[in-house]
Amino acid sequence: MNPLSIQHVSKTYKTPKKEDLLAVDDVSLVIAPGSIHGLLGPNGAGKSTLISLIAGINTPTHGSITLFGLDVIKNPEAAKGLIGVVPQEVVVEMAFTVQEVLYYFSGMYGVPQAQRQARIDQALDDLQLTEKKHEKAKNLSGGMKRRLMIAKAILHQPKLLILDEPTAGVDVALRQKIWELVRRLNASGTTILFTTHYLEEAEQLCDAITLVNHGKVIKEGKLKDIQQEFSKNIIHFELFNKSVSHPSDVVATGSEFEFPMTNLAQDMNMITTHYGDNLKNIRSEAASLEQIFLTLTK
Ligand SMILES: Nc1ncnc2c1ncn2[C@@H]1O[C@H](COP(=O)(O)OP(=O)(O)OP(=O)(O)O)[C@@H](O)[C@H]1O
Ligand SMILES: [Mg+2]
Repeated sequence: MNPLSIQHVSKTYKTPKKEDLLAVDDVSLVIAPGSIHGLLGPNGAGKSTLISLIAGINTPTHGSITLFGLDVIKNPEAAKGLIGVVPQEVVVEMAFTVQEVLYYFSGMYGVPQAQRQARIDQALDDLQLTEKKHEKAKNLSGGMKRRLMIAKAILHQPKLLILDEPTAGVDVALRQKIWELVRRLNASGTTILFTTHYLEEAEQLCDAITLVNHGKVIKEGKLKDIQQEFSKNIIHFELFNKSVSHPSDVVATGSEFEFPMTNLAQDMNMITTHYGDNLKNIRSEAASLEQIFLTLTK
C-alpha cells in the first residue's frame, strides 16, 4: 500500500476581488513505502498548497488523495492520524511550556496515557529540547520553535511524515540534526515527504524528487536518473554585451548564460552564429541539480 497517492489533483483559490488562482494544476504523484521524497519548486509553485490538501486542511477542487489507501476527503480524521505534518509557518502554543505542548498533542493524537511521557522524552531528546522542557514556548528561539513543531508531529509515530521546509532559516548544526533525524525515522520505517529550496539537501536526502512549477509537475523521478538525463548537456557562454536578443532556451545565470545541449556541434554552431563577435567564451559542462532546476523552472 502506497503511503501517498495523489491523482489528478487541482486546487483553485477563490478570491473575492481578483481572478481565481489555480495553485495546483492536475498533479498526480505516488510515494513509495519507505522512501524520502523531495518536493521542489520556486516560491509560489504550489508546494504548501499541495501539502495542505494532503493534510486535509484544504479540500481539492478536483481529484483524489489517498493515504495508505484511505481517502483523505472521505475520512479526514482517520487520515490525519496516519500522518505527521510540520507546516512551513511556525505556529506554537506560546503560553504553554514545551512539555505541556507535547503532552497536549500526544493526547490529541491518541497516544495511550502510559506511553505519553516516554514518547515526549524521546521527542525532546531527538530534537535536543530536553533542557527547554519547562520553558514557555514563546521564550524559545526561532530554531527551537521549529524543533518543537517537529517534535509535535512525531509523537504519534506517524507512518508518513510531511515536512514543509523544515530547515528554512535554521543554523548549519541544526540542519545536520534534522537530516539525521529524517534518516533515522526513515530507517525505522517512516516514509518522508519534504519540501526544500536547498538543492544540496535534496541531493543528500532524497531517493526521488518531484519538481513543481506554476502548480504543475514538471519533472519527477530518481535524482540520479534526472542528473544523468541532464549530464554533460549544458553549454555555458559569456557575452561582451548582455543586452541582446537570445535564442528561446538560453537562461541567464549570473555573469554567464546557459543553454541545454542536444548536439554539441550543432548547438555550438547555433550559438556562435547567433551571437557572432559578441561571444566572449563558450564551454560545455555536466549539469548540477541547481542548473537543472533553473533550466526546468525558467
Ligand atoms: N489561502 C490562499 N488564498 C489564496 N491564494 C493562496 C492561498 N494560499 C496560497 N495561495 C497562492 O497559491 C500559490 C501557491 O502558493 P503556495 O504557498 O502553495 O506555494 P509554495 O510552493 O509553497 O511557495 P513557497 O516556496 O514560497 O513556500 C501562490 O500564488 C499563493 O499566493
Ligand atoms: Mg510553501
